[in-house]
Amino acid sequence: MAEAPEIAIPSSRRPASHVSERDDDNDPFQVSSDGQVTGGKASVTLNAVKADPEVQAFIRNANRNLGVIGYTEHGFRHVGLVANIARNILKRMGFDRRQQELAAISGYLHDIGNVVSRLDHARTGALLAHGILRRLGATPEDAAIVMGAIGSHEDEGHLGEPVHAVSAALILADKADVHRSRVRNPEPTTFDQHDRVNYAATSSRLRVDPDAKSTTLELEIDTTIAPVMHYFEIFLPRMLMSRRAAEALGYAFHITINDVSVL
Ligand SMILES: [Fe+2]
Ligand SMILES: [Fe+2]
Repeated sequence: MAEAPEIAIPSSRRPASHVSERDDDNDPFQVSSDGQVTGGKASVTLNAVKADPEVQAFIRNANRNLGVIGYTEHGFRHVGLVANIARNILKRMGFDRRQQELAAISGYLHDIGNVVSRLDHARTGALLAHGILRRLGATPEDAAIVMGAIGSHEDEGHLGEPVHAVSAALILADKADVHRSRVRNPEPTTFDQHDRVNYAATSSRLRVDPDAKSTTLELEIDTTIAPVMHYFEIFLPRMLMSRRAAEALGYAFHITINDVSVL
């Protein structure tokens, strides 16, 4: 990594700002002090996002486009599941209702960028989400949180890194969806590695233990279809992202496969 350039600090005092802007110096991964009981509401709801015809069209077309180029299912099943998991992660960890709702919305919208292209779909999706959320009445602040989460979930090429709690929850939720129902190829003899590992996964569940400060991805894998090693070969980037996301939230990240601890 290149060294940061030295920054010259002027000796004269800066002029006082006349605008009321300030950087937020709160830790973006910390549970807010108001907790989940009294936490404020998000300015837009998952239900409103789900009901939007543009969102539905984008998810449907994104999923279809990915099917054409050989990717696993990224449609309503995947994004609905990721929305639920992301919300539950922050709920279990004690984040307020606003953060939970924004995590759910991020989960639902996170793959819409695939409607444009698989390449850089996280970045494209974040920009598409901006217009949708503002049209649905989201505040700039809430839209910014969701955009940051979506833009940081990329697991191909440059790996996304968690930038705040909602982003970390989205990463953990998205990378936990490994399941045979995502495989679209009906012909097992032509499975690629991703198909085979997903098809071998008969159950996946992310367990969050607030007392032990641990998150555990519990996988059941049919090893007659894919050896456990194949999971690691294919999903190493996702595992690294999940571990970083959990650690950013102050949690450890573990994986069990067929009840055996492997990470
Ligand atoms: Fe994605
Ligand atoms: Fe996804």
